[in-house]
Amino acid sequence: MITYDSDLFTITTDSFTYQMKKDAYGRLLHLYHGSPIAGDASALLSYRDRGFSGSPYEAGTDRTYSYDYLPLEVSTAGEGDFRTPGIVIEQEDGTLSAAFRYESHRIYTGTEAVRGLPHASADDAECLEIKLTEELSKAELTLTYAAKGSSLVRGMRIKAGDRKITVRKALYSMDTLASDHDVIWFDGRHCSERNMKRDHIDTSALTCTSRRGATSHQMNNSFIICASDTTETHGEAVLLSLLWSGSFTFFAEKDQYGTMRCALGAGSEFFSYDLENDELVLPQLLMTYSAEGLGDLSVKNSRFVSDHIRRKLRGGLTNPVLLNNWEATYFDFNGEKLLQIAKEAKNLGCDLFVLDDGWFGHRNDDLSSLGDWYENREKLGMSLDELSARITEAGIAFGLWVEPEMISEDSDLYRAHPEWALAVPGKAPVRGRYQLVLDMSNPEVTDYLKKTLDDLITRGRLSYMKWDYNRFITDFHSSVTLPGRIEYDYIRGLYSVFEYLNERHPDLLIEGCSGGGGRFDLGLLYYTPQSWLSDDTDAIERIDIEFGSSYIYPVSSFGSHVSAVPNHQTHRTSPLFTRSSVAMIGSYGLELDPTKLSEGEKSVIRDEIKAYKELCPIIKDGDFYRLMHTPDAGCCLAVSQDRKDAVLIAVRRLSHGNPKDFHVRLRGLDEKAMYSVGDKVFSGSMLMNAGFLLPFTYSEDLEAVRVRIKAL
Ligand code: GLA
Repeated sequence: MITYDSDLFTITTDSFTYQMKKDAYGRLLHLYHGSPIAGDASALLSYRDRGFSGSPYEAGTDRTYSYDYLPLEVSTAGEGDFRTPGIVIEQEDGTLSAAFRYESHRIYTGTEAVRGLPHASADDAECLEIKLTEELSKAELTLTYAAKGSSLVRGMRIKAGDRKITVRKALYSMDTLASDHDVIWFDGRHCSERNMKRDHIDTSALTCTSRRGATSHQMNNSFIICASDTTETHGEAVLLSLLWSGSFTFFAEKDQYGTMRCALGAGSEFFSYDLENDELVLPQLLMTYSAEGLGDLSVKNSRFVSDHIRRKLRGGLTNPVLLNNWEATYFDFNGEKLLQIAKEAKNLGCDLFVLDDGWFGHRNDDLSSLGDWYENREKLGMSLDELSARITEAGIAFGLWVEPEMISEDSDLYRAHPEWALAVPGKAPVRGRYQLVLDMSNPEVTDYLKKTLDDLITRGRLSYMKWDYNRFITDFHSSVTLPGRIEYDYIRGLYSVFEYLNERHPDLLIEGCSGGGGRFDLGLLYYTPQSWLSDDTDAIERIDIEFGSSYIYPVSSFGSHVSAVPNHQTHRTSPLFTRSSVAMIGSYGLELDPTKLSEGEKSVIRDEIKAYKELCPIIKDGDFYRLMHTPDAGCCLAVSQDRKDAVLIAVRRLSHGNPKDFHVRLRGLDEKAMYSVGDKVFSGSMLMNAGFLLPFTYSEDLEAVRVRIKAL
């Protein structure tokens, strides 16, 4: 329910309350967010003359009223608030002062589409829109809130008024009184994405950013704010996650009176967006609440993302079992070799064969050809049409790898359009993997890509496309876009290509990728329902990446493959069953040469693919719980939403002499139901309260167990 009463905006669902107040001077205060409350949280505010805290002019001689300590929904510079502002507007004359005052609001049902940007959709969401006007420039700030279940989706737009303004920063901020909170963030590096880190926010401030033009492996754009005693199974937590794939900024800081301000939004310090008769629509922010710990938070968040944000294909392939030839062949293949691999993949039970990098231009290594999205006939020994026809005739769907946002200097495209690459005139550009980045803010570039990729999809009869992005932006100079706008306009350009292709090919599955999981975010999931999780295919390390990512995203969005041993990244040899069990925590596939497998291995993989197809509905539509995550072992459970069917997957990562037992308490089951667990029967209450002894045999290293649990 959303109410407006005596200047008080209250958004309440069964799971949370979010409360704001229009104050006597038209500014918007942020009073509360958290477990549901009835009543006016402004009772928590105190007014005293606080030294060195200035007061708004309208307050006259009242020195007790100051924006230096009041919790604010919209925090700007020049209002007496000395904390880090969420919004910075530069006026035409360079002044950074801005004062946004309430103008109007409306309450309505059903989210509205945001053209050109990823957005949450829910016809029955309760929505609030508040308009504020900036005193000097008459710029209009529109804030939107859509509430459903445990989630709140915030939106923000800034429209220029009479005069030109420059938006230097536009983050969603949130102030919390008397804060005793931790912040959780997810950092990493290539091949080690989304490591969960946690710190208490005291007087120190935490800033996390990506200035790479993409979300990045190094820092994900999702954060959890939780009580300092919150655990997996207990306590309050709210997850903030941006529907955005570009640079971003997050900060959390505590002020002199113990109020915490945290803010998250698009753009780094390189962002600066001038507006004249123009509007800037900022990407949405998803906030999901739980009072029952981080496990429940991720279950609720994943459900919301699956139901209201993540793309659903009209038809075609959903979570297909695929074989990707990258680690099987790298650049060393021809058409006949690919056909053999595809046929063998079909024999094993795969639905889709994906031809990765190296099929186009004259590419035999990563030095050339990005931009030339036509096949290398000489290398393939046949046309793309023929290859595709022969693969699909073998009874398996066909997909291709592309890296459309990139350009190699050694390419026909670069020779024709050097100005399409982002580069600073007079300065040699920075190369990343030898390549340059195309200027996606330039409509000529995006039009070219729309046409080229549309033709490729049609001609290659593609069911799937792996959309890669293998370097970050360094040279923020475009031949058409002002430098400060590039971070934003680039991503808008990218989204426009996805939007076009998805409309033209509603059955096409696009899988996101960026050197593995360097651009794994809700913005991409809106267009590409799954994303390659990491270039690290080692099962033992991948558990960390899967578990970290599962705090934010539905596990079925994780591209997750069984690869050969010794593993190409870690040189570790783990059992096939272990590799396969870990790959089942996601959208399953193979990343190996099936023609090199022994008959024994083929038979195991055939059985494993059958097993995955049976488990896939639980992984896809069910809830995912992390039960144990230590250097010694990882254990998780996927439970169908009716709580009748579940699968537990556990891996021992470190062997010890005379090992200890591993016990886990299951979650998400029905306490009153009886379950068959392998060949035994247990009550739900036994499994959830007393626990379950993981049935490891301790007879091999890196052992996995997979246990099916079914209600009787
Ligand atoms: C990236 C991807 C890999 C593979 C290579 C090809 O690193 O993450 O899966 O596609 O590019 O060059």
